[in-house]
Amino acid sequence: MSSHVRILGIAGSLRRDSYNQAALRAAKLLVPENSEIDLFQLDGIPLFNEDDEKHPPLSVLELKNRIHRADALLIVTPEYSYSIPGVLKNAIDWACRPQGDSAWSGKAAAIMGASPGAIGTARAQYHLRQILVALNLFTVNQPEVVIADAAHRFDENGNLIHEPTKQLIQELLKNLVDWTRRISPAPESTSTSNFATALQLLSGGAPA
Ligand SMILES: Cc1cc2nc3c(=O)[nH]c(=O)nc-3n(C[C@H](O)[C@H](O)[C@H](O)COP(=O)(O)O)c2cc1C
Repeated sequence: MSSHVRILGIAGSLRRDSYNQAALRAAKLLVPENSEIDLFQLDGIPLFNEDDEKHPPLSVLELKNRIHRADALLIVTPEYSYSIPGVLKNAIDWACRPQGDSAWSGKAAAIMGASPGAIGTARAQYHLRQILVALNLFTVNQPEVVIADAAHRFDENGNLIHEPTKQLIQELLKNLVDWTRRISPAPESTSTSNFATALQLLSGGAPA
C-alpha cells in the first residue's frame, strides 16, 4: 500500500434526501491529508440470488472491483427496525460471494450512521459490527459516530452543520487512516497476512 489511503464510502440508503448519504458527503470533506474517500452508490445493485453468484451482474462486479481497489471502507448505515437496511445487507452479501472470493476480507473499516431518532443508529451499528466480523474486516472501535436528531444536525441542503459531529467524524477518519496504515502489509512483506498483523497489534506487539 502506498502512504496515500483510499477509502471507499458506502451509505445504506437510496433515499433522495438521505441523512446517511449527507453524512458520507460530509466525511468526504473531513478526511486527513494523504487520504481520500470515493463514493459508491447502491442504487444499481439487484437482489442477491445465490444462483447468480458465480456470474454476478456488472453492478456487482463494479462494487467488488471498487472494494478491491480501496485500502479501507467507510460504511454509513441508517437504522431500520433496530438493524441495518436490506439494501446494505444485500450489497454486503453480493460482495462476499462466491465463497473464497470475498472482496471485503482483510480490509480496515469504520462505521457511522444518522437517524432522526434519539438513539442515532446505535443498534444498527452494533449489528453491522457483528456482520463485519463475519466478513473478516478490521473495524475501528472508536469514536462511535452515532448521529442522533439528524433533522437538526443537517441543513435543508444536506450540509452537516453540527460542529461536534464534524469533529467526531474527523477523529474517526484519522483513526481509520492510522489503522489502515498499521495493518496493511508493506510491499516487501506481503506474505504477512493482515489478520496476523492485526492480532499482533491487538495483543500489544509491534507489527511485523
Ligand atoms: C422501515 C423503516 C424502519 C425504521 N426503523 C428505525 C429504527 O429502528 N430506528 C431509528 O432510529 N429510525 C428508524 N427509521 C427511521 C430512519 O432512521 C429514517 O427514515 C432515516 O431518515 C433513514 O435514513 P436516511 O435518511 O439515510 O434515508 C426507520 C425507517 C424505515 C423506513
